[in-house]
Amino acid sequence: MSYRKELYVFDGDRPVKAVIRTYREADFAGLIRIQQESFPPPFPAELWWNEEQLLNHVTRFPEGALCVEVEGELAASMTGLRVRFDPQHAEHTWEEITDSGYIRNHDPEGETLYIVDICVRPAYRKLGLGKWLMLSMYEVVVQLGLKRLLGGGRIPGYHRHADSMSAEDYVEAVMAGRLKDPVMTFLLRCGRTPVKLIPGYLEDEESRGYAMLMEWRNPFAHLSANGR
Ligand SMILES: CC(C)(COP(=O)(O)OP(=O)(O)OC[C@H]1O[C@@H](n2cnc3c(N)ncnc32)[C@H](O)[C@@H]1OP(=O)(O)O)[C@@H](O)C(=O)NCCC(=O)NCCS
Repeated sequence: MSYRKELYVFDGDRPVKAVIRTYREADFAGLIRIQQESFPPPFPAELWWNEEQLLNHVTRFPEGALCVEVEGELAASMTGLRVRFDPQHAEHTWEEITDSGYIRNHDPEGETLYIVDICVRPAYRKLGLGKWLMLSMYEVVVQLGLKRLLGGGRIPGYHRHADSMSAEDYVEAVMAGRLKDPVMTFLLRCGRTPVKLIPGYLEDEESRGYAMLMEWRNPFAHLSANGR
């Protein structure tokens, strides 16, 4: 199944033509460039996509491999895999649940679409591309009849407060609206809801290794009482 949506996004007052579609092999160089621009140092360069990972994405779970083109230029991408998620054992690392981005653990029977990555080139930020990608992935969740979309959101704003507050207090301040985080606030604005703060999730200096696990539940799927 491949995905394609044509729409206009707004650069200020100007509508700009965009396409959200399944990415493919011909896009790999552009996708790696998006990663390089989106995750500058101190983010570890070895966590940027390589071609082997991208090949796995487009062959194992193409439904979870989406990109956005703006006026013909690749501007953003988002990638997922299917997993079986047990809310009673919610703790995991990014490496474990995404197979370090290689998704060889993609489970075609998994009820949860887990987000490996979302990134928008800095020059294309705040056009709504990240949110459009997230909404498109919600459509994939509905189309495939899955229970939820889930992912660990970085909290890169935390390093500015890490000397004076715990990560728990930081996310509480974000939830109270006293602080804004570049990723967690973005995810909240996309309709994701917090599940659990996870320490040691990713080698990510700015977030001090923390991530907030956040979900979106398929409104058409009826979860049992324990959320499975
Ligand atoms: C996080 C990221 C994907 C957001 O993409 P974007 O296209 O700029 O975001 P959008 O324009 O779609 O914004 C959607 C909403 O989030 C809000 N938002 C976006 N960036 C924000 C920020 N830095 N701080 C607070 N809110 C923010 C917007 O105001 C908007 O709110 P609205 O819909 O209520 O108007 C992008 O900044 C990025 O690629 N960051 C680096 C990579 C990364 O850390 N990815 C997350 C991995 S877990």
